[in-house]
Amino acid sequence: MNKYTKILAVVLVAALKACTPQPQSTADARVEALLKQMTLEEKIGQLMQKNGDHPQLHDLIRAGKLGSVLNEPNPEKVYELQRLAVEESRLGIPLLIGRDVIHGFRTIFPIPLGQAASWNPALVEEGARIAALEAASQGINWSFAPMIDVTRDPRWGRIAESYGEDHLLNGIFGAATVRGFQGSDLAAPHTIAACVKHYAAYGWAEGGRDYNTVSIPENELHDIILPPFKMCIDAGAASVMTAFNEINGIPATGHIPLLRDVLRHQWGFEGVVLSDWESLTQMVTHGFTPSNKEAAYMAMQATMDMEMASTAYETYLPELISEGRISIKQIDDAVRRILRMKFDLGLFDNPYPFLGDFPPLLAPDHLAAAKQMAMESVVLLKNEGVLPLSTGIRRIAVIGPLADAPHDQMGTWVFDGKKENSVTPLQSLRELAAEQGLEIYYHRALELSRSRQITNLPAIMRDVQRADAVLLFIGEESILSGESHCLANIDLPGAQEELVQRIAAAGKPTAAIIMAGRPVTFEKVEPYLGAVLYAWHPGTMGGPALVDLIFGKASPSGKLPVTFPRHVGQIPMYYNHKNTGKPASDQTWERLDDIPAEAPQLSIGNTSHYLDYGFEPMYPFGYGLSYSSFQISNVTVETPRLKAGENLRVSFTLTNTGQMEAAEVVQLYTRQLFGSRTRPVRELRAFEKITLAPGQQQQHVFEINTRELGFHNPDMVFVTEPGTYHLWVSNCSQSGTQQSFEIIR
Ligand code: NOJ
Repeated sequence: MNKYTKILAVVLVAALKACTPQPQSTADARVEALLKQMTLEEKIGQLMQKNGDHPQLHDLIRAGKLGSVLNEPNPEKVYELQRLAVEESRLGIPLLIGRDVIHGFRTIFPIPLGQAASWNPALVEEGARIAALEAASQGINWSFAPMIDVTRDPRWGRIAESYGEDHLLNGIFGAATVRGFQGSDLAAPHTIAACVKHYAAYGWAEGGRDYNTVSIPENELHDIILPPFKMCIDAGAASVMTAFNEINGIPATGHIPLLRDVLRHQWGFEGVVLSDWESLTQMVTHGFTPSNKEAAYMAMQATMDMEMASTAYETYLPELISEGRISIKQIDDAVRRILRMKFDLGLFDNPYPFLGDFPPLLAPDHLAAAKQMAMESVVLLKNEGVLPLSTGIRRIAVIGPLADAPHDQMGTWVFDGKKENSVTPLQSLRELAAEQGLEIYYHRALELSRSRQITNLPAIMRDVQRADAVLLFIGEESILSGESHCLANIDLPGAQEELVQRIAAAGKPTAAIIMAGRPVTFEKVEPYLGAVLYAWHPGTMGGPALVDLIFGKASPSGKLPVTFPRHVGQIPMYYNHKNTGKPASDQTWERLDDIPAEAPQLSIGNTSHYLDYGFEPMYPFGYGLSYSSFQISNVTVETPRLKAGENLRVSFTLTNTGQMEAAEVVQLYTRQLFGSRTRPVRELRAFEKITLAPGQQQQHVFEINTRELGFHNPDMVFVTEPGTYHLWVSNCSQSGTQQSFEIIR
């Protein structure tokens, strides 16, 4: 061996070492020791996840041919499955027990879209901590949440499960959920692993129809869709789930550029990647691979570790290996990541953490947290002095299909919540009425939110006539949102518009409380309502939370995490849109009826709008009223000229100018005026929820690094460009006094 071959050999050995993970900890060493003992069948078994009712579950576990089970929430059965795995399989490898713990386990919190409306990450983290605690007590160690799919389409049923239209909000609440589930020690018995989903762009489905094709420019994929995933991974998320959809022609589960190149190589993610339910074999249905075997090949090449429900890995990986198309190293890497997650969860040391000490499901502090979250998620959209109900109001007509709908108020994705634990608004109102001598006249009016027939209208109207005020509980049942539950028409379903109009005719102070899994378009009936509280699906404690708000024990403080369109035809409608070359303005012609007959082509202007619905939403992103009032003053850009990479500092004073303690969400938006690509008219950069007593004043400072203002330029390089930027400190995406700052070279 000459000098050069020796050097080459040294370099090669070093390079090989760098490629093969070196044991860094006892866990790594134990994983490596285990890997050495495993047969190929056992290794491939670790890559499989099967449903709890799979007929061969026990045999597969005993044979060491299963890595994970989903949908088995019965702790006795989980005990038996883990026992089989650790005591009866050859190598005693424990199981990952997965479940959709989306917004609570038994104590149900508001749907994630509602949680985002709280603009309170600490509360979201606490909710996830409680969900993890309850789920862990039943043997679950892996939650398929958070879902951080940015979406601009309220027709999409799973908007309920997202944190709305903004990527920063999705990232912040997603990361809060990861921290809540995983705590500071994944091995602690009370924590469970998070699974960030759906990687990627699942919320971008054309037309808001679930599973539909996604076409998205590369820069938007990187600037809007991916950042929340990166934030969750930086928060320590143990796993990622791929999406059902294709992205620009490549199904997510076999998407080599997104999975292998971005997630693994660029971001260094070493956790587990799980497919969605049969999304691996659906690559055949997509028309991407000719067979399940080729689908398995693509998914493996993309570094997709575990297959949910379908069986292509177990069926075809042995063949793919013997053909030399998939290497043992690829299999080992996937198994290593799965075993590592099991070690991190502490399952090798204690496969039965759920046998330890746990508070009961629905413990009082869990319910209190769910109530607080429900209160903070409610958005007051309109109030002409109707709310809070004044003490003079003694007789209240409570009308509508959602006043007493214990199942529906829990919302979508509730596998383990029970309707008998829900406290409905009607129950809470009746309790309060008994304490305070109020009279409640209740009518469901419609059997379901989508019923077309109002029942007992004469009796309803008699009671409305003798009431001092009317509370209308309207909206959508939970089944109208969620997976594959998309709608082409997002108006209030059934005869609800008619119901509102008939009741309004009585001229009583009327407040609507809308429970829904998405923004519904209710412009037609909004003028009939004196107040509107948007409650989403508020969960187990929706009733007491709403009653506290209705009677002014606390003020609403939620803000919209998503734009509310006036009409479905305006979709997509979102606050961080581009200006276009012909932006609409207040002068824009907007009334179809007023256009003169045979008007000349150019007489009504040329701007980007709809002749019948204009260009404004019904309610903008970030909007929400309070029973109190606030003033934002002394907004000072403390760094008016700064370099890319330096921190932008903006100070302001918030004053509660009203009569009651309340919270305001102060939002920081920026706009880059010119760029190598056009930039949105506003982008949310930071926010702070501040509670103040009447008359109280507080100074705050937003501080962000200018790197956070960057984007991918036409060469797909992430840059923060020099130039003039506008800035607003405001309480909504459409308000605030404009300031500016300069980024210099
Ligand atoms: C399909 C859904 O898309 C995913 O979010 C969920 O976690 C799995 N099914 C398992 O229920």
